[in-house]
Amino acid sequence: MPRRILVTSALPYVNGHIHIGHLVEYLQTDIFVRFLRLQGHEVAFICADDVHGTATMIAARNRGVPESTIIGEMAAAHQKDFADFGIRFDHYGSTDSASNRESVHAIWAALRAGGHVTSRDVTQLYDPKAGTFLADRFVKGTCPKCGAPDQYGDSCDKCSSTFSPTELKDAVSTLSGAKPELRSATHHFVQLEHFRRFLEDWVGEAGHLHPDMAKWVKNTFLREGEPLRDWDVSRPAPYFGFEIPDAPGHFFYVWLDAPVGYVASTRDWCAATGQDWTSWWQGGKAEIHHVIGKDIAYFHTLFWPANLKAVGWNLPTKVHIHGFLTVNGEKMSKSKGTFVRARTYLDHLEAPWLRYYYAAKLNGTAEDLDMNLAEFKEKVDSDLVGKVVNLASRTARFVPRLTDAYPDDGGLFARAAAESGAIAEAYERLDTAAAMRLIMAAADRANEYVARTEPWTLKKDPTKADELARVCTVALNLFRQICVYLAPVLPQVAAEAGRLLNAPITAWSDAQRPVTGNAIAAYQNLMGRVDPEKLQAMIASSTVAEPAPTPVASAAPTEALAATIAFDDFAKVDLRVAQVLTAEDVPKAKKIVKLRVSLGSLGERTIFAGIKAAFPDVAVLVGRKIVVVANLAPRTMSFGVSEGMVIAAGEAPNAFLLTPDAGAEPGMRLH
Ligand code: 2FM
Ligand code: ZN
Repeated sequence: MPRRILVTSALPYVNGHIHIGHLVEYLQTDIFVRFLRLQGHEVAFICADDVHGTATMIAARNRGVPESTIIGEMAAAHQKDFADFGIRFDHYGSTDSASNRESVHAIWAALRAGGHVTSRDVTQLYDPKAGTFLADRFVKGTCPKCGAPDQYGDSCDKCSSTFSPTELKDAVSTLSGAKPELRSATHHFVQLEHFRRFLEDWVGEAGHLHPDMAKWVKNTFLREGEPLRDWDVSRPAPYFGFEIPDAPGHFFYVWLDAPVGYVASTRDWCAATGQDWTSWWQGGKAEIHHVIGKDIAYFHTLFWPANLKAVGWNLPTKVHIHGFLTVNGEKMSKSKGTFVRARTYLDHLEAPWLRYYYAAKLNGTAEDLDMNLAEFKEKVDSDLVGKVVNLASRTARFVPRLTDAYPDDGGLFARAAAESGAIAEAYERLDTAAAMRLIMAAADRANEYVARTEPWTLKKDPTKADELARVCTVALNLFRQICVYLAPVLPQVAAEAGRLLNAPITAWSDAQRPVTGNAIAAYQNLMGRVDPEKLQAMIASSTVAEPAPTPVASAAPTEALAATIAFDDFAKVDLRVAQVLTAEDVPKAKKIVKLRVSLGSLGERTIFAGIKAAFPDVAVLVGRKIVVVANLAPRTMSFGVSEGMVIAAGEAPNAFLLTPDAGAEPGMRLH
């Protein structure tokens, strides 16, 4: 029976670009959606940008533009990144929309009518210079427990203690550097405890959450004898968000309106396509599936179901929760180049590789997932190229058409056809790792068949033409069958398999019947291997040097201004963007670093720079884009010839290299 299923990924914040950590979830959801569609279900894939909050307000203020400018720019960038990874939403909205305001108002009215709202004064840190109250992450200071400097307002990363921002010593606002003061304002709260019985039932009911997650939510948030804390859903002005209709000067906290964006984006899609949004969100006629990371499980398993319950809309059928991405076993790191933006990945590597790699790793639980770069290459090369693509590349060119009857293959096609249910079940529970294992096992069997029958040997013997046609018909059908199963992960490969055999893949059941008699189209290469140099280049492009230690004021006196020069004098200095290729210590000169830099089409240079004291670990410089004087006469030093000069502010150990904005390429001249 076809189902009506609404699927969402979490709404990405407008304040940052999509990176490979985000992509775990968006690719996982896209694969799930494509699988459901292939099964013949009616699916809506809904997303939006999450745009409200202090961070957007401050970013707009700092740039001197309205919030709408930032929202517009980021919406375009996010959607392009998603599209280029083959992630196809039915609708991509924004939480700053009329439909969201209306939906939030409906929920608020229901919460008020149900007697679930209470108000009281809250004392918080306030930045008098920026004119705004400060959330914990906008305050830094000295840890009250261990004295570690430079800690955020809620916890210390040195001693792991947690505290309130008012306890921080020497607190400063990260927005303006001002010393925060304490101020009181009224806040509005949702009394979550009113929903306790409902939440216990909803969390406990089989199917809503993975059993491990249900246990975690129960033990963490719904502990016996501990009332659920009231949820603070308002912020006093100034705040970028929706003003609370019955509390002027107060705004809904971003986390109240963000999940409502799921409904609002559906409403906008329905308005554009002539549907009734209530058929998705009311009356229980559609399933609602949310895919999220474990960091926001709290919001999606407590607040969101409570709000939906209050307003009487459809509750989530299932909240699918995944873990965090690590790279090479560690947290993604800018200084190690493993904090890779979606766009940077695409500049160097192919989207289908990541789609497959994540699919092969995700197992439907909230365990963290490690992207090991060596394993990434190995999996793509050996599974996709070695096992899947090779099936077609080694057989498709040998015969013009498939045989009219499907030959005896020793039961290979039937065996993989019989695994359709097991593979589908794995996809349904987002255990794509299990699905990929079953599919690759089928590919192994198909490859054994090809190795055994040796079509390349048959091709050489004209008397074996019939046998060759039979062997190729079997191999190509096994290939197509595998491509049906892989279609949610690799839609382009599936489309290409359909084109090759003149039998488009449109349904999951296409894996049940072999194709016979069709002409075989010209074979086009489906996918290549991962080039390790490109993998390294991606890491190099993502590497950002750790900020140098903050200099003490007396160490950086301002130099007197140099004598005025004519423009022509300035124009004589040829400043160029350069990218560091290698960075080495110079054993004979302790203050010097030897850099090999690329100036793009102008070639490479060796430059000796006196910045060692600022960069004790020279490896952090590799991949970094810097500025160099490119037309300085070469200087012979005792350890080699320096072919330019690196531009830096200050002197080592407080030297600061200049880095151009993203987009500047090696060789570009500075004017
Ligand atoms: O954690 C985040 O990135 C949030 N922007 C997710 C919001 S999901 C939903 F609730 F809107
Ligand atoms: Zn501490």
